[in-house]
Amino acid sequence: MISKRLKAIADLVPSNKSVIDIGTDHAYLPIYLYQNKITQDVAGSDISVNVLKYSLNNLKKYQLETKIPLLVSDGFKNIPRKFAVAILAGMGTRTIIDILNTAILPDILIIQSNNEHYLLRTHMNKIGYKISREVVIKDKKHYYVIIKYEKGKEVLSDDILLFGKSNNLEYYQYLLAKYEYIYNQAKDNKYLVYIKKLNSIIEKIPV
Ligand SMILES: C[S@@+](CC[C@H](N)C(=O)[O-])C[C@H]1O[C@@H](n2cnc3c(N)ncnc32)[C@H](O)[C@@H]1O
Repeated sequence: MISKRLKAIADLVPSNKSVIDIGTDHAYLPIYLYQNKITQDVAGSDISVNVLKYSLNNLKKYQLETKIPLLVSDGFKNIPRKFAVAILAGMGTRTIIDILNTAILPDILIIQSNNEHYLLRTHMNKIGYKISREVVIKDKKHYYVIIKYEKGKEVLSDDILLFGKSNNLEYYQYLLAKYEYIYNQAKDNKYLVYIKKLNSIIEKIPV
């Protein structure tokens, strides 16, 4: 059984497309996509050979070692073919941007960054990707922002660059409480701006 986070990522993958999971680690996502017939053309890659030994063991548990290729690659550098969809999950935004900067990219990217979502949204907008879906899920104690990007242009407001398109009330309330706490500690006016913006976004979400 995969985690709620990985399931939410899998739910954004379109059916019957070729998919590469960059930084696959355990390969749970390719295994899930294959077993659930979301796609039979799925590969996993990782920068670490040692990690891929562990992934291979996981594939063997399900007799999928001949079905799901595993590739050693720093980002897209050694990926030998084009995939329609790439997933980049569980990494930081700066690593993700470094990876995206060195490749001809697929039309669809599904990204779950652990941090710096403003930087991620700004960068993706700059390189010609629009947000086609954004969801935030809570898995155990953590909120995870998952964004599905498609090639295309869009104008994004500062509110969306900062807080995204998820409209997840619980997440925004969590952010609000966090920024109120930080503001009370540090008295940095930047957080006062975030607090005002979040209050105004929250007011508009139907309950
Ligand atoms: C925290 S794990 C996330 C695993 C999985 N994607 C998930 O979301 O559960 C991050 C993985 O990314 C890999 N990684 C880090 N930098 C990478 C790069 N430049 N190219 C490919 N893989 C990378 C690491 O080796 C590690 O296995």
